Amino acid sequence: MPQSSLPLPPGSFGLPVIGESVSYLHSPAIFMEKRQKQYGNIFKTHLFGFPTIVLIGAGAARFLFANEGQKFEMTNTPSFERLLGINSIGVVTGAAHQTLRKYLYQAFAPRALADYATTMQNITHRYLKRWEKMETLTWYPELKKYTLDIACQLFIGVATESEEALEKIYETWSDGLLSIPVRFPGNKFDKSIHAREELLAHFDKLIDQRLQHPAENQDVLTILLQAQDEEGKHLSREEVKDNLLGMLVAGHETLTSALTSLCLLLAQHPDVLVKAHVEQEQFKFSEPITQEDLKQMTYLEQVMKEVLRMAPPVVRSGLRKVLEPCEFAGYKIPQGWGVFYQIQETHQDQTIYSHPEKFDPNRFNTEKVEDKQKPFAHIPFGGGIRECLGKEFAKLEIKLFAALLIREYEWELAPRQNLERIVLPFSRPHDGLKVKFRKRG
Ligand code: HEM
Repeated sequence: MPQSSLPLPPGSFGLPVIGESVSYLHSPAIFMEKRQKQYGNIFKTHLFGFPTIVLIGAGAARFLFANEGQKFEMTNTPSFERLLGINSIGVVTGAAHQTLRKYLYQAFAPRALADYATTMQNITHRYLKRWEKMETLTWYPELKKYTLDIACQLFIGVATESEEALEKIYETWSDGLLSIPVRFPGNKFDKSIHAREELLAHFDKLIDQRLQHPAENQDVLTILLQAQDEEGKHLSREEVKDNLLGMLVAGHETLTSALTSLCLLLAQHPDVLVKAHVEQEQFKFSEPITQEDLKQMTYLEQVMKEVLRMAPPVVRSGLRKVLEPCEFAGYKIPQGWGVFYQIQETHQDQTIYSHPEKFDPNRFNTEKVEDKQKPFAHIPFGGGIRECLGKEFAKLEIKLFAALLIREYEWELAPRQNLERIVLPFSRPHDGLKVKFRKRG
């Protein structure tokens, strides 16, 4: 059938102008669940000013990743674009995106990661001791400090502990990411733009210092300043600054979410925790933990995969714009529309995962390998040419944190707390995960 005579996917555009954005933002999970039940895995809606097609499932993800950059291109809400900056990898498209990605990758290549592991472990020990002293704590905000400390130390060589002001400015900036992009003095968006300018000014100072006195330790900033293409060309100062900022958000909010979910799911599944602890007992005398040690912790790897399947920190992808008309699953996808692939719902596919609602790390053992039944069945880091650049960094941090935590500590959920999952902008429990924390007896 010629593409033009195919039907549009089922679905509704909602109200004029605002479309269905309000009900989506009110509860993204219910929004998706209701429509998936009613229309299936592909449906149309109207979000953030665009007629949009929602795609669910491994096949749909594969279709989108395979055509990224040709039929589809990343697009952002106006507030994201303004606050991330025009040079950010999350905003740049086409050939310029691929070139930028090659530069930035140099900061996340295997050799760079090996250098980061010791700092990650030192900071982890410091926080574990802090939580032991606290005895009861709300973990989400604590983990946010912890991951920001690691990001600031490894990305810009700054300890946030001694720079509390930096943490506050960062918070003001990130608060604006989901705000309405209309600026008047003192509103969220305006404050966030000011915070962006302060952060960039701070990066400017750091860059000046680095250019005068190169850092002893390789951090992301040093690597980006030295990174060259085949012709010896460097990134511009503006490119370095916009991307440092983007990486701070990409690199620490997502990890906070992943670690919080790991702590919650292990507390709710003591049998899994016991098994993970038994595995760690075999390695407890080896410190610092090396990448080789991590490779041998196969159960820990399964636990991490299952946490990222059940509670992916990025629940929905970034929006894509349709560059040329195409078709998928018998429906037409018109040019100029938005496309939105869904990570959470793809991970709940019953034809791939048995009892997808259950937390079961064994589904990834060498006999079952449920995720290998279809390409792109497990996509917490997205896929294709826009796959997460920090994927290996993130996996390293999650595993080091989990290994050191499980070896020596135990925790239980405090009573009377709301554990309901909030998913925007990043997945987390409603009350931030209150726990009692202690050293193992
Ligand atoms: C992109 C998830 C950690 C840097 C992405 C995407 C996902 C994702 C799903 C693709 C979004 C899309 O298709 O629209 C995660 C998760 C993380 C994590 C679940 C932790 C558990 C990190 C870290 C960094 C990072 C630590 C680095 C500092 C990036 C960058 C991109 C990206 C730069 C954009 C890549 C591009 O557009 O070419 N991430 N991420 N992420 N992530 Fe991550």
